[in-house]
Amino acid sequence: MSEILSFYLNGNPVEVLVKPEQTLLELLRDELGLTSPKCGCNHGDCGACTVILDGKAVKSCLVLAPTVKGKKVVTADGLCSGEKLHPIQQAFLDYGAPQCGYCTPGMVMAATAFLLENPKPTKEEIKEALSGNLCRCAGYEKYTEAVLAVSKGEFGLLPEGSDFNV
Ligand code: FES
Ligand code: FES
Repeated sequence: MSEILSFYLNGNPVEVLVKPEQTLLELLRDELGLTSPKCGCNHGDCGACTVILDGKAVKSCLVLAPTVKGKKVVTADGLCSGEKLHPIQQAFLDYGAPQCGYCTPGMVMAATAFLLENPKPTKEEIKEALSGNLCRCAGYEKYTEAVLAVSKGEFGLLPEGSDFNV
């Protein structure tokens, strides 16, 4: 039976009807119209559906929607500040990392959550952190270089303590 689910999405309170078996990915895309989380495999293998849940990167195809009650969900859409891109988004763009772009929103979220935990990573640590996000265009080197540049402050300070607690 459907129930009303309340949670925070990109800083805003949301109330939506949800079915017990619905995944967070389905809820975001099909009910709430947010298409930045992509459905690649729907089995936790590709990372295209990655969002940040209470500060941690999760694969939204593996999260049952009712379990996010009262929690904070952030998608790639929620990282921009008006017209201004988040440093990770800007770096990916400037480094020409996205090729087809299908994996990119998931990469953005995985990289953002990773840098919150490890703001000064090595290149190897970045590679490891992004290894759960498949890019069929094999653009890993550019994604890695971009994250490294952000960690060195080349794209400005990472936003911290924002109201949606990314
Ligand atoms: S769609 Fe979720 S990991 Fe592939
Ligand atoms: S840019 Fe990642 S799959 Fe193409």
